[in-house]
Amino acid sequence: MSYIRFASVAALLGALTLACLAQAPAQKGKSDVKRQDFGKLPDGTPIELYTLSNAKGMQAGIMTYGGVVVSLTAPDRTGKFADVVLGMAGLSGYLTPPPYFGALIGRYGNRIGHAQFSLDGKVFHLPANDGANTLHGGLKGFDKRVWKATPGTGGDQSLELTYTSQDGEEGFPGNLSVKVLYTLSAKNELRIDYTATTDKNTVVNLTNHSYFNLAGQGEGDILGHEVMIAADRFTPVDSGLIPTGELRSVKGTPFDFSKSTAIGARIGQNDEQLKFGKGYDHNWVLNKKGGMAKAAEVHEPKTGRVMEVWTTEPGLQFYTGNFLDGTLTGKGGKVYPLRGAFCMETQHYPDSPNRPTFPTTELKPGATYHTTTAYRFSAR
Ligand code: GLA
Repeated sequence: MSYIRFASVAALLGALTLACLAQAPAQKGKSDVKRQDFGKLPDGTPIELYTLSNAKGMQAGIMTYGGVVVSLTAPDRTGKFADVVLGMAGLSGYLTPPPYFGALIGRYGNRIGHAQFSLDGKVFHLPANDGANTLHGGLKGFDKRVWKATPGTGGDQSLELTYTSQDGEEGFPGNLSVKVLYTLSAKNELRIDYTATTDKNTVVNLTNHSYFNLAGQGEGDILGHEVMIAADRFTPVDSGLIPTGELRSVKGTPFDFSKSTAIGARIGQNDEQLKFGKGYDHNWVLNKKGGMAKAAEVHEPKTGRVMEVWTTEPGLQFYTGNFLDGTLTGKGGKVYPLRGAFCMETQHYPDSPNRPTFPTTELKPGATYHTTTAYRFSAR
């Protein structure tokens, strides 16, 4: 290379570097995720709160304890924002603990019957924390763990949370490395990407347990919300909410949400399944076949807020806050009444480790668990 060509390449590189440096602060400003201290656990562990924002004014507050979505704002049809998820006023409220408000759930979201399952001919015993069954990962599930947070850089604001669950934790085999990426996109969508790997054969079923009220958190019950679930079948349960194994048609039952219907329209019907759940607390078998697809849409008629749920998962637990009873006081001093919120927990079916006919929840070393769910907001 001649000296002249070398010099001009060097000059070009220098100019590019300067241009990048000049760009850097602007890029950084765009992707700055707000970080705040959110108090300390009784053992002194500091907990952080991160706030993601998008250009349309939506905000999502996520803390490192339980990976909890502590707040999520969405606009109504006039453009007015409200916090649409239930939550506690501060960290101490989450230590009591409330019923999984906003939390990441693992290793196994929903129930495992008789607190055990067998894998490769070996029986694994889990703590029973819901009658005879195991609910939401056991006594100290992922909702009660401290996650390591790394804010994203560039593009939509995001927060990566990681947690390593030790071999044998809550009875589950294998060291499980879990990564959850929360992204607040310009489409007014809170997307959650879940990734996990293991070093021994194990079972995994991760979800998020946000309690939504699209009229605004603490604004009464959700019986007037209209719900569509893209499912022709659901998994009926026994009195302990463990699936019987049947995939039952929703046709002619209060479980038919294939056309948008108010939650309260049939919730009080004399139906054995509704009695077992004290309302809706069941898994719908989504019609979708693989890939990311719309699983549900909820419309709140007074404010016009709409939430669509998109997921790669085969199931959706639709729970209508049947255990809320007005004894919990949350954010802004709001009291949460019976059915003061609904949950849409995207997942594999409950008790899959004991049901070989259900889609498998097994994860083997060398394979990567990856699922995505997005809650998309609009108004009409
Ligand atoms: C899930 C379960 C419900 C209930 C809530 C938390 O939605 O299916 O039965 O345990 O979590 O209270």
